[in-house]
Amino acid sequence: MNPAPSLRVLTHRDTDLHAAYCDYVAQVFTQADFRRWCEWGQWNEDYLAFSVFLDGRVVANASPMRMRLVIEGADVDGWQLGAVGCLPELRGRGLARAAMHAALAHCGDQPVLLFANDSVLDFYPRFGFTPAPQSLFALDWQARPEPVQAPVLDLADASVRAAFLRTAASARPLSQRFGARNYGRTATWYAANGYASPLRRLDEDVWVFAQTEDLVLTIEDVFAAAPVDWPAAIGRLIDQPIRELRFGFTPERDWTQARVLGEEADAGLFARNLVVPASPNRFPLLART
Ligand SMILES: CC(C)(COP(=O)(O)OP(=O)(O)OC[C@H]1O[C@@H](n2cnc3c(N)ncnc32)[C@H](O)[C@@H]1OP(=O)(O)O)[C@@H](O)C(=O)NCCC(=O)NCCS
Repeated sequence: MNPAPSLRVLTHRDTDLHAAYCDYVAQVFTQADFRRWCEWGQWNEDYLAFSVFLDGRVVANASPMRMRLVIEGADVDGWQLGAVGCLPELRGRGLARAAMHAALAHCGDQPVLLFANDSVLDFYPRFGFTPAPQSLFALDWQARPEPVQAPVLDLADASVRAAFLRTAASARPLSQRFGARNYGRTATWYAANGYASPLRRLDEDVWVFAQTEDLVLTIEDVFAAAPVDWPAAIGRLIDQPIRELRFGFTPERDWTQARVLGEEADAGLFARNLVVPASPNRFPLLART
């Protein structure tokens, strides 16, 4: 007789099962990996995995991460779903549905958001999710490099990670329109997988993920406890002249003049029990799970 699948909630404490979880992620998502993130000690009590086990393997899953959202000026507790999937050979048997239902029951009537790929745009509406657009923002900005650059630091270094997470925990949200607080452990996932821009420490309490290309400085994210003096800071983030800024988040707070460049293609934002603001917005790239 074949063993029956069983659902289990994995937390940061279930370290003996983290390898099974990481194996599942590696098999379902070719571009995502949780191994290094786990090795860096980043899984904490905010991240839960509702995993369907079969024969000791995780075969389907949905992982809610607790989020401190900021929506039109208000702090809102919610969740973000990630790592939703099923092993290819076991699809079509309701296993992802079981994981989704368990994860969503845990979230209750709190807001949930997620970022979907093109293959599941009709999957999430079955669970009460509605799509919402995301925008790209830019601002004309002429600047030249300063002689002394802000140092680039590597989150692979445990002491750098600890200092970064301390700032991230109390960082001021970049957007009041649509953003989040305290998502340092999501940003470290991008760094652990080599997907984040270089991380520069502008100041003791000011960390910026940014890179320059073709006269454009893209500020992917900023983790700073207090407002930053951008006209003074930009020259320390660039090694060549720039004419434009772009942003990995909604920049309305510090850059009131930023303009909408267009829609963020393939963003795939879906929301449940949450009204995404109608005015143009971009949920921070490094806060997406
Ligand atoms: C999408 C995925 C999670 C579905 O897993 P699954 O175990 O086959 O799904 P289930 O059998 O539980 O299906 C639940 C329901 O969704 C439907 N469904 C399954 N995949 C779907 C898809 N891609 N689009 C729309 N509906 C889908 C099923 O027909 C079923 O409908 P029903 O309730 O009317 O019977 C799986 O194909 C997968 O892992 N894809 C790759 C990973 C991925 O892209 N994940 C999303 C990351 S954002």
